[in-house]
Amino acid sequence: MQTPKRLADYTPPPLELRSIHLTIRFAEQVEVIGELAVAPRPGRSPDSVLVLDAEDLEVLEVAVDGRVLSPQDYRYDGAHLEIPWPETSVRTRVRIDPDRNTRLEGLFPCGGGYFTQCEAEGFRRITPYLDRPDVLAPFEVTLHADRQRFPILLANGNCVETGIEGDRHWARWVDPYPKPAYLFAVVAADLACVEDRFVTASGREVALACYVAHGLEDRCGHALDSLKAAMRWDEENYGREYDLDRYMIVAVSDFNMGAMENKGLNIFNSQFVLARPDTATDDDYHHIASVVAHEYFHNWTGNRITCRDWFQLSLKEGLTVFRDQCFSADQPGGAVQRIRDVARLKAMQFREDAGPLAHPVRPESYLEINNFYTATVYEKGAEVVRMMANTLGPAAFRRGMDRYFDRHDGQAVTVEDFVDALGTDSGQDLSDFLIWYRQAGTPRLAVRGVHDPANRTYTLEFCQHTPPTPGQPDKQPVPIPVRLALLDASGEPLPLRLSGEDRANGHERVLVVREATTRFCFEDVAVPPVPSLLRGFSAPVHLADDLTLADRLHLLRHDRDPMVRWQAAQQVWIAALQQAMTSTASAGLAPAAIAGFASVLDDAALDPTLAAELLALPAYETLLDAFAPADPYRLESLRQQLRSQLARELESRWAARYAALAGRDDPAARALRNRCLQFLMADGLEVSYRGLCRRQFDEAGTMTERLTALALLVDHGGEDAESALAAFHERHAHDDLVLDKWFRIQAQARHGAALARLDALMAHPAFRLTQPNKVRAVVGAFAHGNPLHFHAPDGSGYAWVADRIAALVSLNPQLAARLAGVFAGWRDLTPPSRDLMRAQLVRLADLPGLPPDLIEVLGKALADN
Ligand code: TRP
Ligand code: ZN
Repeated sequence: MQTPKRLADYTPPPLELRSIHLTIRFAEQVEVIGELAVAPRPGRSPDSVLVLDAEDLEVLEVAVDGRVLSPQDYRYDGAHLEIPWPETSVRTRVRIDPDRNTRLEGLFPCGGGYFTQCEAEGFRRITPYLDRPDVLAPFEVTLHADRQRFPILLANGNCVETGIEGDRHWARWVDPYPKPAYLFAVVAADLACVEDRFVTASGREVALACYVAHGLEDRCGHALDSLKAAMRWDEENYGREYDLDRYMIVAVSDFNMGAMENKGLNIFNSQFVLARPDTATDDDYHHIASVVAHEYFHNWTGNRITCRDWFQLSLKEGLTVFRDQCFSADQPGGAVQRIRDVARLKAMQFREDAGPLAHPVRPESYLEINNFYTATVYEKGAEVVRMMANTLGPAAFRRGMDRYFDRHDGQAVTVEDFVDALGTDSGQDLSDFLIWYRQAGTPRLAVRGVHDPANRTYTLEFCQHTPPTPGQPDKQPVPIPVRLALLDASGEPLPLRLSGEDRANGHERVLVVREATTRFCFEDVAVPPVPSLLRGFSAPVHLADDLTLADRLHLLRHDRDPMVRWQAAQQVWIAALQQAMTSTASAGLAPAAIAGFASVLDDAALDPTLAAELLALPAYETLLDAFAPADPYRLESLRQQLRSQLARELESRWAARYAALAGRDDPAARALRNRCLQFLMADGLEVSYRGLCRRQFDEAGTMTERLTALALLVDHGGEDAESALAAFHERHAHDDLVLDKWFRIQAQARHGAALARLDALMAHPAFRLTQPNKVRAVVGAFAHGNPLHFHAPDGSGYAWVADRIAALVSLNPQLAARLAGVFAGWRDLTPPSRDLMRAQLVRLADLPGLPPDLIEVLGKALADN
């Protein structure tokens, strides 16, 4: 049984690594020679043995200080290699077996080539090493392989030498920037290369290269454009330039996550590289730009400055997500970026933070670090950086970031180092934001507004409370920046003067709620205003306000802050659902609410992308958070009924707007047009609009239009749906990424016998359990995107998913553990669902030989606290 690692137990590395030279020979078997130059660490005396991380290797030879050891002079147990203490050097020769590697960590095969994934602890599966992020060294890598099979040989940094020896060839790469092993990468494959170039602000030329499977060269343009945009953006917004002569992106089809920021050699899930208008949706285009930017931004936030240990993961991930979110908001179509980011945060992170897997942005212990690449570390981590940035203001934040880069370039640091650097120059003490890093759970912020007509004051009283989370029964107040305005009856923001101020100070303020109860009193308020709170979603909290439906509709119509408008719309739906859930009489959207949504739809001046977001129902997963414990089946059914109600009430308007947008060919128009079609295809109306939907499918000029139409048809089933599916399949049968969409749509469809269809999908020749994208498109899409069948009252959906997880446990523990997370929410359900779901957790936990990934997730999901 493994013991947990703890933040509190951190000790510095035992010695210093001066350099590493790695030689990898690809042949029948793969042999790796690692040559480490070591030196004592100042202030630390030598030990008798050195323990290197070394997983699943066949150790062939070990030499210390130039002397080859006999096998009894070292010990290897499959996880660690123990050797005599070295003075100057260690040399190991090992054999590895990448062809059997289905975990996709370390060196793995894909499409006839070999690729690596080393974060977090994959490097130890390649060569014995001090595989920890605070050990930095310059890398030199020599690759030898067959010329025909592996014409492309890549590693980090610059290629300094190549050679040919008969049928084989070799290449030597040098990365001058010391880095931790998790940023190491190599590629040996037969790939096409699309080249581009970028000239940095200081005039240096950088060669850009995108490596993809042959035949896909025409799908790299958007990724390369996004890369150049990101490079420029980081120069303009942070003064950061790229530092090597070459930047490479390699697309692979089998990958556990989105992409990896290896120094100078990013490896990407092909999903986040390849795009053409007929194969990728507008959303895909956005995701590609944001992932490309994310990995690029890591070059400074993650690579040049890295993490001391894996507990500091959010130091690089939260900060880099914040940076990529800001980048995306600056791109075309970026107006709704913040809304989408917040929707995602609420659907995923808020749920995580409310359940048994809740953990702080900086966790204090873990069994398997792969389990902590979570919405909390990434998305909530980004929110914490955003709060500090907003508290400082743009100029001071930029100075703080400059200070951080100056002070810590080339180092492996902690969250405290970051927070300290940020606040240094402005003299602002940000240290109470460290509570956000330590404390799990989403704070509830209750607010009450009281108007005093006699004194013409308006008082906002905020009460914050963070519910207990596992291992943290008692919580402290956190600093909560609330960006706010007060709107008058015509929707205009009032000038804001707080008691004690001698004059008004703007129409929008950021006030920081620090205590359990905090009051702000505004002067010169003649009539009760409508508060516009948490503008831009200025803090990741649950806001419980005392607004009426009329207030919310006032915000929806008039607020200038798109986020507040969206929140108001979401609250209108949630309130209607609340009524429907608790009353037996048929409840629904009030006439005023319907009129409110109609005004959004009718507003010709409104950005259609924003209109599409304002007209979106809350995600099912967001609702669970608001209604737990709930009957999932009933919740989703009522949600669909409300959709139908708004569809019916505004039928002619949806149809008219749909028709009016038909002539336009831009992402904004497509977004709103697809929203209209979604309402027209709501239950009850859909019979009348199937033909329209099928026409959109047949005549679509883009994947965005085709896919939405297909999804809506398939959701209802029938002749049209089957023939559209067949047509889509035939058209895209040879396009692996597009097939993922075809799989996903069917996995999420409400119509028909879901489990039989899922089994058929898994029997499709393109389906592989060893390809995470396919597993996510079928198993993940079903578990997260098909609530009616996943939560089938007989528990069959749960059992089906658990069976798939069981099949994945030994193939890919990282993916299996992630999927198992869908069962963590069992306490949010009412019986019998809750017991049926829990039973599957118990079943999985009883499987023999579980890896730590699953022991940790299942253990927490079933724990009593
Ligand atoms: N560091 C990567 C990112 O956020 C993500 C990552 C972590 C990853 N572990 C991984 C990617 C394993 C692939 C496989 O950009
Ligand atoms: Zn990242």
